[in-house]
Amino acid sequence: MKIKNSIVFVTGASRGLGLTFAREALIRGAAKVYAGVRNPEGFNEPGIIPVKLDVTDPDSVLAAAKIASDVTLLVNNAGIAEVSESPFAENVEEQARRIFETNYYGVMRTTSAFQASLPSEGNGAVINVLSDVTWRTVPILTPYSASKAAAWSYTNNIRLHLKTRNISVVGLHVGFVDTDLTKGFDVPKASPVDVVRQTYDALEAGESEVLADAGSRALKQSLSATVSGYIAPEVLEA
Ligand SMILES: NC(=O)c1ccc[n+]([C@@H]2O[C@H](COP(=O)([O-])OP(=O)(O)OC[C@H]3O[C@@H](n4cnc5c(N)ncnc54)[C@H](OP(=O)(O)O)[C@@H]3O)[C@@H](O)[C@H]2O)c1
Repeated sequence: MKIKNSIVFVTGASRGLGLTFAREALIRGAAKVYAGVRNPEGFNEPGIIPVKLDVTDPDSVLAAAKIASDVTLLVNNAGIAEVSESPFAENVEEQARRIFETNYYGVMRTTSAFQASLPSEGNGAVINVLSDVTWRTVPILTPYSASKAAAWSYTNNIRLHLKTRNISVVGLHVGFVDTDLTKGFDVPKASPVDVVRQTYDALEAGESEVLADAGSRALKQSLSATVSGYIAPEVLEA
């Protein structure tokens, strides 16, 4: 499908990757771009329509889907991340529930609410913003990683299901991206614009998966090895 003339809804579009997805859609000639944001009052981006949306609130999701019933491309971007002391930290269950509520159930409920309106003429699509942690093992990110792995599985299942309606589903995997989410990490980071451009290019080329940085590509490559990167991260450096 082409972004030109599409009608795009991006969740979590107040900043970071989400705002970049919304801006880049406009640049590529989208007919309409909705920004799903928790605080529409503070949102002021020329040409982008803010819609109140909290993906953890089912009523808010249903209301947004009703307002934006003309959407042809849904970008499930909203997400949160938290570091934990270890996989056995005292608060880890509570933390996992909070993260899953946004990163997994949020994606599920938003897709469920919007999917019926997506067109079936080959110009309907869903992009799910996943992560390299679907395959990378980082013990201090155990709940976040599990939420993205669950969202990856969800992505694969809806891809097969929506294929019957000629609707494309793209999963985006990437490591550190330069947004508020990674503010405290002094590591090399991908640029949000580059990641979003790769994702829209892949969608327009009919691809189902985007591996937006070298780390994600190496991880995917290692999955079929006898000892893959998620078992022994050092094989990725070899
Ligand atoms: N940055 C990275 O290194 C990286 C790497 C791989 C994947 N990702 C994924 O990319 C996506 C975007 O992350 P980012 O880096 O752009 O992070 P970010 O700068 O922290 O932005 C997160 C966005 O999600 C929104 N959001 C959070 N909870 C929400 C909720 N319950 N309902 C609606 N919106 C909500 C935030 O809205 P408010 O402004 O209202 O808080 C904000 O717009 C996430 O899914 C993240 O997991 C990020």
